[in-house]
Amino acid sequence: MSMPRFLVTTEIPEPGMSLLRAAGTVQVPATQLSADDLASACASGDFDVVVAQIRDRFDKAVLAGAQISGVSNYAVGYNNIDADAATANGIMVANTPGVLTDATADIALLLILATARRCVEADSFVRNGQFTGWEPSLLLGHDVSGMTLGLAGFGRIARATARRAAAFGMRIAFCPRPPGDRPVSDDELGEFAGRVEHVSWTDLVGMSDFLSIHVPLNDATHHLVDSDVLRAMKPTAILINTARGPIVDEAALVAALQSGEIAAAGLDVYEDEPALAPGLAELPNTVLLPHVGSATVAVRAEMARLCAENAIAMAHKRIPPHPVNPEAWSARPEPGRR
Ligand code: DGY
Repeated sequence: MSMPRFLVTTEIPEPGMSLLRAAGTVQVPATQLSADDLASACASGDFDVVVAQIRDRFDKAVLAGAQISGVSNYAVGYNNIDADAATANGIMVANTPGVLTDATADIALLLILATARRCVEADSFVRNGQFTGWEPSLLLGHDVSGMTLGLAGFGRIARATARRAAAFGMRIAFCPRPPGDRPVSDDELGEFAGRVEHVSWTDLVGMSDFLSIHVPLNDATHHLVDSDVLRAMKPTAILINTARGPIVDEAALVAALQSGEIAAAGLDVYEDEPALAPGLAELPNTVLLPHVGSATVAVRAEMARLCAENAIAMAHKRIPPHPVNPEAWSARPEPGRR
């Protein structure tokens, strides 16, 4: 077989680049590819696998014209790729699950604490020279211990968040597949059996002091948190989102925060990233992070390793270690590159 050819849309950390360069030829564009340039590169026949970022969109049209075997996404989330269209076109998609669970749960906890205790406001207060001494009523926040954390979804990151929240004395409730539901056995709950409450989405929304989003973005979860949901939350409730921005109707969130329908929000992701909904940045009752859930040196290196291993396997027409759509190649008589 000839040397695998990789298109790496944005350089990934080590050991990713070294693994790819040892396995084949690597092209990294000097600047970020436009949507048209990405489509042309995929259609050129010059590459076996694209190593992609979540801002690279692989929609039906791009995938229909693509002459590649696979897309290795440098992320666990893959809502930037139409996985059904990839399968229909015999293109394997792979992602980087597992390695960013704890880091992302850390950020969910950080946002819970930072919003409850008004950390950003307090930091600005000191930096602006407003701190003139201890005051009985200075920057009072809210307790976390004894409060109810509602988890929308109960996958890996939700569970890691639950573990941390339990250590802070929080009561934990979850809805496994909002806005619907599904049965969850004690076996599936494992260490959480008897320690967390399984409730409906409606109940979760109404009972949570902190509502934290841990579902993938898809048609069922787009605007899962809309103006109706925000209205049904407690006026003291805080919304946390470390998953994907479009799960929350951001304009409705701004309105709810402005009117006091809910108390605060801690966000790591945005509906139209990197743009923010008008008014969001001006709200003091928000903590806003730039999508850094997985941003630790060690985690990004592990993601890079997995991403490169996925890409190399796909370039050799082997099922990658972390396939999203392993059926993609068997769906076609001639598997792999078209
Ligand atoms: C992911 O992996 O899906 C994150 O959101 C990006 O690190």
